[in-house]
Amino acid sequence: MTHVPRTRVAVVFGGRSTEHQISCISAGGVLRALDPEEFEVVPVGITPEGAWVLVDNDPERLAITSGRLPSLDAGSGAPVVWTADPSRGISVHEPGHVPEVLSDVDVVFPLLHGPYGEDGTLQGLLELAGVPYVGSGVLASAAAMDKAVTKVLVAAAGITQTPYVVISDREWTYDRAAALGSVRSLQLPVFVKPARAGSSVGISRVTDWADLELAIEQARDHDPKTVVEQGIVGREIECGVLARTDGSGPESSVCAEIRVLGDHDFYDFEAKYLDDVTELAVPADLPDEVSDRVRQAACAAFDAVGCEDYARVDFFVTDGGDVVFNEINTIPGFTHISLFPRMWQESGVEYPELVARLVRTALTKRRGLR
Ligand SMILES: Nc1ncnc2c1ncn2[C@@H]1O[C@H](COP(=O)(O)OP(=O)(O)O)[C@@H](O)[C@H]1O
Ligand SMILES: [Mg+2]
Repeated sequence: MTHVPRTRVAVVFGGRSTEHQISCISAGGVLRALDPEEFEVVPVGITPEGAWVLVDNDPERLAITSGRLPSLDAGSGAPVVWTADPSRGISVHEPGHVPEVLSDVDVVFPLLHGPYGEDGTLQGLLELAGVPYVGSGVLASAAAMDKAVTKVLVAAAGITQTPYVVISDREWTYDRAAALGSVRSLQLPVFVKPARAGSSVGISRVTDWADLELAIEQARDHDPKTVVEQGIVGREIECGVLARTDGSGPESSVCAEIRVLGDHDFYDFEAKYLDDVTELAVPADLPDEVSDRVRQAACAAFDAVGCEDYARVDFFVTDGGDVVFNEINTIPGFTHISLFPRMWQESGVEYPELVARLVRTALTKRRGLR
């Protein structure tokens, strides 16, 4: 019997963003799904403080146990140093031991949500280190993380969006009256958002102009750049996109709908993770004609931002049937109950197949500028 070497996959997860715990759960799902016959997994965790540690390949440790969300700390494993020098790769530094260089990793699966992971920073390190990785490259990751930049790219592709205003740190600091004036050109309610965040942190729905400044200050606690959008009345519909490897354009999954119940004004942090107040429908109950338009817009947004491999694209669908783009996530939630895997499951791609497909595709990608 010939021995086929296994593919060494470093799954990088945790991270410094507010979505640290969700990333740990996503990683647990991926570790469980990677077939040990084909893949050897190197789980690399990043603590909320930014320390890199080599974690045991124990998916149970990364599951929700008795209602507690998993997280990492400096004691979760031996310190790992990942250099940008392609000849050095990764090394493990056990206290009191000579640093041990890990043999080459074939491919990296970054599973970090939000800033310092989904935003092109980690992708930049991996480009420098010369290691192929799953997902979008530096530019698309950074562009998709920044809601102000995404809007410019998506608008250029002719995709419908809600009217919005961007307030830079300089404008807020030196020309606040003008910034507030331009926001008042929008109609209430407005949504005030940090340009680069996630999980709805720092987002407020403003129904009275008197509350605008406080909402902007709250958004600025997360990012000095703020986006203010006119509120859309409509259903929240999401769609998964996967790149094809045969040179044809990306393909889309069935759509999903998120319905927020109870007294949440919108899909806020509590509704996303803490409360049992959301109802998810996969596939979404939409006329074919509407879901076709969502799916086309999802693929168009994927291409407009220059995404690679996969993304989840989020929309609003109004009562009149208008499809309005909201945002694109280049590393969507990847837990078993997350929408991205569920939409693909409903489209005929089971979770383990989805994970394996992403890793295999990343291995075949061209190195360097793409
Ligand atoms: N323009 C808008 N109109 C109506 N609801 C909005 C609008 N923007 C955001 N929301 C609500 O806020 C939630 C979070 O906003 P989103 O832009 O998706 O931020 P995040 O990147 O944190 O997920 C959305 O899921 C939706 O419920
Ligand atoms: Mg969102």
